[in-house]
Amino acid sequence: MSVTAVLGCLWGDEGKAKIVDALAAEADAIIRFQGGSNAGHTIVKDGEKYVFHLVPSGLLYPSKHCFLGAGTVIDPEMLIQEMDELKARGLSFEGRFFIDPRAAIVLPLHKELDGSREDEAGNSKIGTTRRGIGPAYADRASRIAPQLIDLMDTKILKNSLERIYRFHNRDIDDLDRVTDRLLRLGELLKPYFAQVPYILNRYYGSGKKLLFEGAQGSLLDIGFGTYPFVTSSYTTAGGISAGSGFPPNRIDRIIGVYKAYTTRVGEGPFPTELHDELGQRIREQGNEYGASTGRPRRCGWFDAVAARFTAMINGVTEGALTLVDVLSGIDTLKICVGYCVNGASVREMPFNMHDLENAQPIYVEMKGWNEDITGIRNYDDLPEATKQYIKTLEEMVGVRYTIISVGADRNQTIYRI
Ligand code: GDP
Ligand code: IMO
Ligand code: MG
Repeated sequence: MSVTAVLGCLWGDEGKAKIVDALAAEADAIIRFQGGSNAGHTIVKDGEKYVFHLVPSGLLYPSKHCFLGAGTVIDPEMLIQEMDELKARGLSFEGRFFIDPRAAIVLPLHKELDGSREDEAGNSKIGTTRRGIGPAYADRASRIAPQLIDLMDTKILKNSLERIYRFHNRDIDDLDRVTDRLLRLGELLKPYFAQVPYILNRYYGSGKKLLFEGAQGSLLDIGFGTYPFVTSSYTTAGGISAGSGFPPNRIDRIIGVYKAYTTRVGEGPFPTELHDELGQRIREQGNEYGASTGRPRRCGWFDAVAARFTAMINGVTEGALTLVDVLSGIDTLKICVGYCVNGASVREMPFNMHDLENAQPIYVEMKGWNEDITGIRNYDDLPEATKQYIKTLEEMVGVRYTIISVGADRNQTIYRI
């Protein structure tokens, strides 16, 4: 099996980076194919914490090759800053970091638009990361977004910026300043520009192992997420090829990452949300604060309706279950197995978001466990109640969990055969 994808199957922050880190040990190349600096991917190695935003988290290994596909949106300022911070911690990029210059640029203008739309939206705000992601993807779809390749030519860049500022009715008196700054950043990024589709397909041909790193989660997918409270890219399996130029029929394994409970950051429907002390307790125990924005994450019970839906649309071949340790010490655990919508019981994800907002979760209850499981490395050593909880989730979601994560550190991982 040489091509693997790791996809978040809830509302993001499922612990994808930890799973990517575990699998990257065996991979040759790690590829981001969508999203931008809205992502916050945390790896804890020997007690040291790294948070990746746009740079693939496989970079933590000294020799792996890392790629940003054409489907990502790149804020050159933030990318350079992230690279500088990682370099300062001893990580190298030379000869092993590749960017597809087809990727659209996130401009300062996009961040302004993102922020002002949120400020003006009142009750209907999305709670974005304010990193300019939505406006950048919108301009890409409108075919007016500058691409990274435009940074190589002053005239082309200037024309492109003029067009986009005009499109948004923005004053362009500081056009020269913005152009100069972008050209300087372009010089710094140019050495990494590469024909990503050709390289990935060549690597595949020579037997190298590829690992695709999803950002965000399936319930934030622009097509099948809880629209409009979603991000602006295809976070689901279909996005892998569209965002990298690597064909879909060559992907062997799709690993769906699920938290043992559910979190969401930002606005939008969340049927199993806990508004009580238990929600607060999970937040504290799981350190559920955004890796990019520091916002407290909303916490709730595992939603098997949503989980089964995302396993289906992604074609998940196996699962990773993370943050299982966080549930230690809770007497009774609940799993949502259906919703009550307008008096009817449903087992499928509603397409009407008003229905999801008003959905009453139908729960089954499970016995919890009190043991600290963070030191366990063999599945059989887990408490019976933990194994029963995992088994029940597997049956409900229709996915076998082959990786169980019981702590943030790289080594706090249980592998099941
Ligand atoms: P990602 O965006 O999906 O990569 O996830 P984030 O990095 O945003 O959030 C996951 C958080 O949980 C990070 O702080 C991780 O260090 C942490 N984490 C990952 N797996 C585990 C686990 O099994 N147990 C605990 N307690 N923390 C974990
Ligand atoms: P990772 O990769 C969790 C959420 C935002 C907001 C919505 C739209 O770390 O899992 P955007 O800035 O993308 O336009 O915001 O999506 N969001 C995330 N939530 N994890 C993420 O990334 C997210 N990236 C965006 O909070 O609700
Ligand atoms: Mg995250």
